[in-house]
Amino acid sequence: MKYKIPTHLAIIMDGNGRYAKEKGLPRSVGHKKGSDAIKSLSLYANKIGIQYLTVYAFSSENWKRPEDEKNYLFKLPKIFFDLYLQDFINNNIKIETIGDLTQFPIDMQKILQSAKDKTSHNTGLKLCFALNYGGQQEIMSAMQQYATQCLQENKLIDLSLENAPNYFLKPEYPMVDLVIRTSGEMRISNFLLWQIAYAEMIFVQQHWPDFDNILLDECLAIYTKRDRRFGGLNDEN
Ligand code: IPE
Ligand code: IPE
Ligand code: MG
Repeated sequence: MKYKIPTHLAIIMDGNGRYAKEKGLPRSVGHKKGSDAIKSLSLYANKIGIQYLTVYAFSSENWKRPEDEKNYLFKLPKIFFDLYLQDFINNNIKIETIGDLTQFPIDMQKILQSAKDKTSHNTGLKLCFALNYGGQQEIMSAMQQYATQCLQENKLIDLSLENAPNYFLKPEYPMVDLVIRTSGEMRISNFLLWQIAYAEMIFVQQHWPDFDNILLDECLAIYTKRDRRFGGLNDEN
């Protein structure tokens, strides 16, 4: 493989609506095509050795969307896993989630739980769906848990960069190496905040449903050329 492979890739999958609009189709078609793109890309990511792929599927702020759009998005996991769960099982991909699922319809929660259960022993790519997820909410919840633990133990527990992530949703996940956002917007939109502290950022113009292996390779080529200094100096200095 000629590219450096990020251990943890995080994607802000934006532009499903614009993809559909440009084709004169309903936004739901964009979301369906977007979900197909997740399946193809995760099989490819697994093949090239990416270990963690976190995809932003529904933000804490997406509750502001119209009811009919949200209702379609809540049905999409069933459509998606009916079509593709077997592919994930066959390819050793482990399905995970971050975010507060309890606000979603029970049917959707059950589908997600079943996908997680059926892939829980898989050891390949961890494919993590951020659903009703917000980076600020995750940090607040960490603060709450920390404070609760301090009160329970009746002392001020030491915090370090090593133990602080234990209060986050996926303590076992490494920091994000690369964030890709599709569809031209250059913002984070409350995605992983702590975890992207030293991530490389790539913004592409293509809408998410058009994102494919070739485009991921292009992003990896850019990522490979980035000089990740983490506050230090590079070898030439
Ligand atoms: C991203 O596509 C998917 C979700 C936020 C659920 P959008 O629905 O945001 O598409 P645009 O940005 O309106 O084109
Ligand atoms: C970010 O996209 C959330 C997801 C991709 C799920 P949005 O379309 O919601 O972001 P904004 O509103 O343009 O910042
Ligand atoms: Mg958008």
